[in-house]
Amino acid sequence: MNNTKQQVREFYDEIGWSHVGEGLYQNARYEDLRPVSREYIHKCHMRVKRYLAPQGNILLDAGSGPVQWPEYLTYSENYRYRLCADISITALKEARSRLGDRGMFVVADIANLPFKPEVFDGVVSMHTIHHLPLSEHRRAYFELIRVLKADKTAVVINGWHNPPLMRMAEPFIRLGRLLAGRSAKKKKNWSLEEDQAGTFVKKMTPRWLKKELKDAVTFKIYPWRSLSPRFMRWFVRPQFGGKAYLRLIFWLEERFPRFFGENGQYPLIVIKK
Ligand SMILES: C[S@@+](CC[C@H](N)C(=O)[O-])C[C@H]1O[C@@H](n2cnc3c(N)ncnc32)[C@H](O)[C@@H]1O
Repeated sequence: MNNTKQQVREFYDEIGWSHVGEGLYQNARYEDLRPVSREYIHKCHMRVKRYLAPQGNILLDAGSGPVQWPEYLTYSENYRYRLCADISITALKEARSRLGDRGMFVVADIANLPFKPEVFDGVVSMHTIHHLPLSEHRRAYFELIRVLKADKTAVVINGWHNPPLMRMAEPFIRLGRLLAGRSAKKKKNWSLEEDQAGTFVKKMTPRWLKKELKDAVTFKIYPWRSLSPRFMRWFVRPQFGGKAYLRLIFWLEERFPRFFGENGQYPLIVIKK
């Protein structure tokens, strides 16, 4: 395993999946956990289920982590098994505590999956490909497709690099920080977000994805969630109609999926085999 992957594995084993109280992992600090945002986040989590085969023998969760949010469990509720593959042993132990004998747990690298072709009825991979060195992103997509059965779908979620909608908000966030007396120093480093994620992250653009996968893969880009936690913490305030604002955003995402899928923070990429 190369240095980058080793570093990512150590991060998740020792920090990312350590418990920090109230049933939360350290990793949850990158999420907006406030009650005002709960409904929007729940509905976004549930979007994944729409595109997966509703039932089957085995669902592959590639880079499963501990299957940390309750909605995640619903994706495999009508499957016989959920196979969690992750390079972090801590992640898999935690996943086992949730799934019990409905789960299978394999230490594996998503760019080199140790499975035969066409064995899974569904594949999901959330927030994981971005932890790979750029040279392996394409290969990871192809691995997910290789192990998927014909006529089935894979769902991939990853953050975009520097998405226009979030980029437009950055000057206001920086101004807000200044006015609030906080340092404005945190200019976002969009390509290598080590400061945010705590470990190696390499995000890509819709243009890159289309160029890399076109001709070889049939896929569509939908919004998973347009708003980043950073944006939400600044602009979604319970006292200023935050919940209604998020309902409007969700409605807009449903109405204009292509626009929000490509310009918001997190796309939901549906791959059809
Ligand atoms: C940001 S967490 C996401 C976990 C989960 N999918 C979720 O959405 O909550 C990324 C996970 O991917 C795993 N991971 C990172 N690189 C990987 C690789 N090359 N192969 C398999 N898993 C990997 C990490 O160990 C970690 O558990």
